[in-house]
Amino acid sequence: MGSKALSGVRILDMTHVQAGPTSSQLLAWMGADVIKFENPTGDITRKQLRHDPNKDSLYFTMLNSNKRSIIANMKSKAGCEIFEELLRKCDVIMENFGPGVLARFGYTWEKIHEINPAIIYATIKGFGSSGPYSDYKAYEPIAQAMGGSMSTTGFPENPPTITGAQIGDTGTGLHLAIGICAALYHRTHNGGIGQEVEAAMQESVMNLCRVKFRDQGRLMGGKAALPEYSRPTLGLTAVPRAGNDSGGGQLGNCIPCKPFGTNDYVYFIVQEANWPVVARAIGDEALVTDERFATLAERRKNQNELWKMIADFAKNYTKREFTAFCNEKNIPCGPVLSTEEIMTDPHVAHREMIVKVEGHPQGDYYTVGMPIKLSMGNVDKILPAPMLGEHTEEVLKEVCGFSAEKIAELKAGGAFEVPPKKKK
Ligand SMILES: CC(C)(COP(=O)(O)OP(=O)(O)OC[C@H]1O[C@@H](n2cnc3c(N)ncnc32)[C@H](O)[C@@H]1OP(=O)(O)O)[C@@H](O)C(=O)NCCC(=O)NCCS
Repeated sequence: MGSKALSGVRILDMTHVQAGPTSSQLLAWMGADVIKFENPTGDITRKQLRHDPNKDSLYFTMLNSNKRSIIANMKSKAGCEIFEELLRKCDVIMENFGPGVLARFGYTWEKIHEINPAIIYATIKGFGSSGPYSDYKAYEPIAQAMGGSMSTTGFPENPPTITGAQIGDTGTGLHLAIGICAALYHRTHNGGIGQEVEAAMQESVMNLCRVKFRDQGRLMGGKAALPEYSRPTLGLTAVPRAGNDSGGGQLGNCIPCKPFGTNDYVYFIVQEANWPVVARAIGDEALVTDERFATLAERRKNQNELWKMIADFAKNYTKREFTAFCNEKNIPCGPVLSTEEIMTDPHVAHREMIVKVEGHPQGDYYTVGMPIKLSMGNVDKILPAPMLGEHTEEVLKEVCGFSAEKIAELKAGGAFEVPPKKKK
C-alpha cells in the first residue's frame, strides 16, 4: 500500500463524458488505481471538440489523467466475462450511463452485489433511480435548468442563464466522490460490505443552489422582500436572477475599472463591520456617518448609489491596481480574471493549478490541477490520459490473472470488437 489516501483502492471506472470522469480522476489523484473500462468505440469525448483532428480531445485528456484504459465489448459474452472478473477484483464500480443501460446487460445492483458483496456501486443519473423523471437522460444544462441554477443566474431582464462552472456535471462528480469515500470508510468499519452510492445531477445542482432555496423560504410567498438584492423583490413568489448581487449576508457587486474591457471589473464586498474602512478608502470621514450608508439597512436600501460611488473611485485604477489598493486596507475583493489571465497568474502557478502534462504520445498539454491538497500524499505527478485500450493486456494479466492463451480466447469471442450499432 502506498502513502496516498486512496492507495490500495481499485476502481472499475465505466464513466463517460464529464460527470463521472471528473469524479474518478479526483480519486485517481488521491491514489486509487482507476481502470477506465471503455466500449471499444471509446469514450465519446475522445472525439468531441478536437483541437487537432488526429488527437484525443482536451475534453478527454483533461478529465482522464492518471487512469488506465481497457476496452471490452459488453455486447459479447467474452466482454462480460472480463467485466465480471474485474467486478470481483475491484473495490468500487462507477458508471454514469443513461437510465437502465447496465441493467440491460443484466447487471443490476443486486446482481453486482451478488458477484462481489464488498464492491461499492457508484452511479450518476440525471434524476436518480426513482421518481417520475428517473427514465430521462441528462446533460449539464438540463441539470442546471431543473435544479434552480438557470432561473437564478443572469440579470432579471435577460433570459435564464447557464453558469460557466459545470455544476451539473463536475458538481455531481464531486458529490459522487464524497459518497464513495464515505462508503469505503463504512465498509472498512462495518464488516466489509459494499453499498450503492447514487448522485443525481438535479439534486447536486439543488445542493449547490442551497442559498437560493434559503431565499425562496425568506420570500414567504410574496409577503417579504430580500433586502440585500439591488432590485425590488417584494411581491415575488420565486427567487429572481440576482445579476451580480452577492446573494450573501455581505453586500457586494462588480465594479468596472480602466481600461473598461470585457473583464475589467473587480468584485467588491462591503463587509458589515468594515464599512468605516470602505468609507474612508473611497471617500472621507463624513462618508462614514453619512445617513444614506451609516447602517446596514440603509446601505442595502441605497446600494445602487453606493456602487456608483465606488465605481467613480475605481475608474482611475486597473483591476489589479484596485485589488491591491483594497487588499492593503483589508477590504475583500477580487479581479474578474479571464481564462487566459488565470493560465498565467502567479498565484495559480504557485498552487500548481495549471499543470503541464508531459509524456502523452500525442504531445504535452496543459490541464487544471488538483484542487484538494492532502498533506500526507498529495498528487505527485499528473500523468497523461491513456490512449484507448492502452492497458487492456496489462490489466487482464495483472488484475484479472488471465494468461496469454485466455486473452486470445476472449479476443476470438469478440471481447474487443466494436459492438453492433443500436437499432433505432
Ligand atoms: C450522458 C448521456 C445522456 C449519454 O447518452 P448516450 O450517449 O445515449 O449513452 P448511454 O449512456 O445512454 O448509453 C451508452 C450506450 O453504450 C453502450 N455501451 C457502453 N459501454 C459499452 C461497452 N463496454 N460495450 C458495449 N456497449 C457499451 C451501452 O450499451 C449503451 O447502448 P444501449 O443504449 O444500446 O444499451 C447518458 O449517459 C446519461 O443520461 N447519463 C447519466 C447522466 C449523466 O451522467 N449525464 C452527464 C454526462 S456529462
